[in-house]
Amino acid sequence: MVDIRPQQAKDLEAIARINADAFAEHGGTGSFDRFREERTDIISLVAESEGQLLGHVLFSPVVLDTPDGPVNGMGLGQLAVDPVHQNQGIGTKLSEAGLEKLRDTDCPFVIVIGHAKYYPRFGFEKGVTNNFVCQWEGIPDNSFMVLFLDESRRLELAGTARFDGL
Ligand SMILES: CC(C)(COP(=O)(O)OP(=O)(O)OC[C@H]1O[C@@H](n2cnc3c(N)ncnc32)[C@H](O)[C@@H]1OP(=O)(O)O)[C@@H](O)C(=O)NCCC(=O)NCCS
Repeated sequence: MVDIRPQQAKDLEAIARINADAFAEHGGTGSFDRFREERTDIISLVAESEGQLLGHVLFSPVVLDTPDGPVNGMGLGQLAVDPVHQNQGIGTKLSEAGLEKLRDTDCPFVIVIGHAKYYPRFGFEKGVTNNFVCQWEGIPDNSFMVLFLDESRRLELAGTARFDGL
């Protein structure tokens, strides 16, 4: 039985360990790490089973520079599952729980840079075909994705999307 709940201060060490283990091959998680301790405008959730943390997801603010001015959205910045517990649905539960929280807000879109075969299951689409541009050069088109939470704004949303603070 895996519970998804908001991050608490006591979780920070375990979250850091999960991210370090899950992203070991990628050289660590870098830039987003300090957001967990410093920001209150993030969604940071953990997956817990029998008192043990097994996974973590972090959503943080993103600004889309549209021709009509900036539009605030969110970005899925980190998703990590303890390597021993991967492929058991924990990443899916964490992502869905975070997106469910965002659906209760007026956040119109969420971006992610990640595995092109993983994120479409949550409704993410290729950014480039939706006129979303990544702030960083060199990210493969397939890896930069957007999910529209407010379908009515799909056509008006276009521009470069930047993670706030990065
Ligand atoms: C990617 C990750 C978060 C997925 O979480 P998970 O709990 O293992 O995945 P789930 O059980 O929810 O989903 C399993 C599915 O994810 C797919 N999957 C797992 N890792 C994947 C990867 N690196 N790339 C693409 N798909 C992946 C599996 O093939 C499986 O697909 P299926 O449902 O079609 O059979 C987890 O494997 C992880 O922490 N990986 C290392 C860190 C990382 O790459 N994070 C994401 C950065 S974008």
